[in-house]
Amino acid sequence: MGKQPRPADTPLSSRQLEEIRRSQFVDVPPDNAPHRGLSLEEVLSEEFWEARKAELEKRVSKKRFAHSLGVAATADQLAAIYGVDRRKARLAGLIHDWDKGFDDDGIRVRVRQLGLQDAIAPGVVEKMPQVLHAHTAAAALAREFPALPPDVAQAIDRHTAAAPDMTPLDMIIYVADCLEPHRRFGEVDKLRQLVGEVGLPQLFLQVYEYWVYLLMSRQKPLHPATIEVWNAYAKGLPKRKDNDGKHN
Ligand SMILES: [Fe+2]
Ligand SMILES: [Fe+2]
Repeated sequence: MGKQPRPADTPLSSRQLEEIRRSQFVDVPPDNAPHRGLSLEEVLSEEFWEARKAELEKRVSKKRFAHSLGVAATADQLAAIYGVDRRKARLAGLIHDWDKGFDDDGIRVRVRQLGLQDAIAPGVVEKMPQVLHAHTAAAALAREFPALPPDVAQAIDRHTAAAPDMTPLDMIIYVADCLEPHRRFGEVDKLRQLVGEVGLPQLFLQVYEYWVYLLMSRQKPLHPATIEVWNAYAKGLPKRKDNDGKHN
């Protein structure tokens, strides 16, 4: 496999972080109160998508912004292929990395300020801060936009650690995050060829397998839910031939 390290996001300045804190945290000032007047149709509209896109551009690095647009487009394609609501997939894809601009300490603070610490597996907040942005984004977006469909928030929440009971929308966001066009390393091209050729659970499992393999090959810690997620999907799938799916 070619060595192509992924550059880290450009950290936000302390002033930018303070602006985000003021507008997003529990103690929101009145001018940034939750958008309670919006309907479900409005949240799933093109106008809402464009408004969040403009906001996202200010929250994350250029590279992360381009990645997010790639995930939205890929999620839209996958939704069309696998018969899932395309508006939800495109929206969840756009905003899945809403909180990726926080550094490790910043995201831990955000977990506490959103009251999420007890809902996250023990040890993850301290040892795996890179997965936390999924949980904080889902919680913060659901609070700011009460009409955001719960399944969209859930797909955002599950895009890093996955879950044993992934819905088709959850799987689409997970897969799109890994296969969007800016991902150009290792076996992603092989995985892209499976789109439309295999069912969605099989596609998800192969992408998940590759991601776990990458983490292990880089000697990174695995999320405590990994075995549970793996076992939930690995059972019942057709047995693979000996030389399929080897990671060279
Ligand atoms: Fe992410
Ligand atoms: Fe992402």
